[in-house]
Amino acid sequence: MRKIRTNIINPIDQDHTFIGLDYVIAWDDGIFNYIHPYQAGKDLDCEERLDEICIPGLIDIHTHLSQYWIRGRYEPSLLFWLEKNVFPEEALSQNPDFAEKIAEDFFQALFAAGTTTSVIYTAPYPQACEIAFSVAKKYGARAWIGMTLMDQNVNSELVQSTDYAYQKSLELYYKYHNASTLLDYIFSPRFALSCSVILMEKIARFAQDNSAWIQTHLSENQIEIANVLQLFGVDTYTQVYENVGLLTPKTILAHCIHLSSAEMDTLAKYDSCIAHCPDSNFFLKSGEFNYEALYSRNLNIGVGSDVAAGTTLNMLYHSKMVNYRQSVFSLSPERLFYHITLGNAILLGCQDKIGSLDLGKEADLCFLKLPPEPIPVDSLVSALCFYGYEFPVMETVIAGRTVYSR
Ligand code: GUN
Ligand code: ZN
Repeated sequence: MRKIRTNIINPIDQDHTFIGLDYVIAWDDGIFNYIHPYQAGKDLDCEERLDEICIPGLIDIHTHLSQYWIRGRYEPSLLFWLEKNVFPEEALSQNPDFAEKIAEDFFQALFAAGTTTSVIYTAPYPQACEIAFSVAKKYGARAWIGMTLMDQNVNSELVQSTDYAYQKSLELYYKYHNASTLLDYIFSPRFALSCSVILMEKIARFAQDNSAWIQTHLSENQIEIANVLQLFGVDTYTQVYENVGLLTPKTILAHCIHLSSAEMDTLAKYDSCIAHCPDSNFFLKSGEFNYEALYSRNLNIGVGSDVAAGTTLNMLYHSKMVNYRQSVFSLSPERLFYHITLGNAILLGCQDKIGSLDLGKEADLCFLKLPPEPIPVDSLVSALCFYGYEFPVMETVIAGRTVYSR
């Protein structure tokens, strides 16, 4: 049982945020059971944290664990960056000691940034994926984790045979799906260039039959797209995924920058999810995400760090980037905060459990120290979304368990 006197900032919906100054928030057995304005004489035995704010645990719907140590390796074009930096680095995760050290570092950094839920790619090795699951379990992370699939167009150190990629994915799925309340498996074809039609079809069929999660990358870079159209003999990148059956309501498509209107309509038809990764798009000079057009189609848009093309795991920094990467359209602080909390939870279908500080939900939260300068109440959400990444994270809690304490 924890009972804390503090200030809470809570997403209500896409355009509204609740601010509760001098509140008491309590949880027992991992579930919020008391959220109320402080009452003198009644709320006894509280921990006093009035110089902090309490927000829901942050959610990152797209990131690469095995790339954590190569953030900020300058190369402003996707395919060159993958060849030069990413593929050699991911090959190092063949070594279990390496895979373990990087997983330890990654989860510690996630928690230190206030992130409680994440959707993760690991390297193309089953053992590296298993190690990520075991480290996540040891620390109590909430995550969807998948082994990266590549059965073509990569060097022999990384390439998997089609059967191996498929069989090992299934083994990992059976081992980790339902094995824990906090962890699940996500099928993870890297992108069309590194996956054969047969592999994508088999993964898609299995995922559809089992209502399992899928993640991949779509339409990030112009050279990538030109190569995809040539390799698969199609008119659009989206057609490749549509033809093989990879578009489902439980498919998370990272980037989606250069989509035509018809492709956006196709994604809307299948109700697939989009991971917008603005910092990555900026770093690799991939292009500008068409937020307005995708949002107007009611597409499920979430936000991800996309480390290592994204330079930090701090989702408050990415909330600012969502705004900054739009050259004209401006998203409100309320919308930015929604995206990295409740919005991402809704995308993942777990808004009944996480995403906001509400009675009956699981206690996923973090405490941030307020800066010394006075911030008017009606500017708090704005401060949080535009420089909240500077506020020290004091404690991070997942399902009632402290996973980080400063
Ligand atoms: N497309 C295929 N693989 C990757 C990756 O690892 N990072 C990014 N940003 N895009 C990709
Ligand atoms: Zn990515």
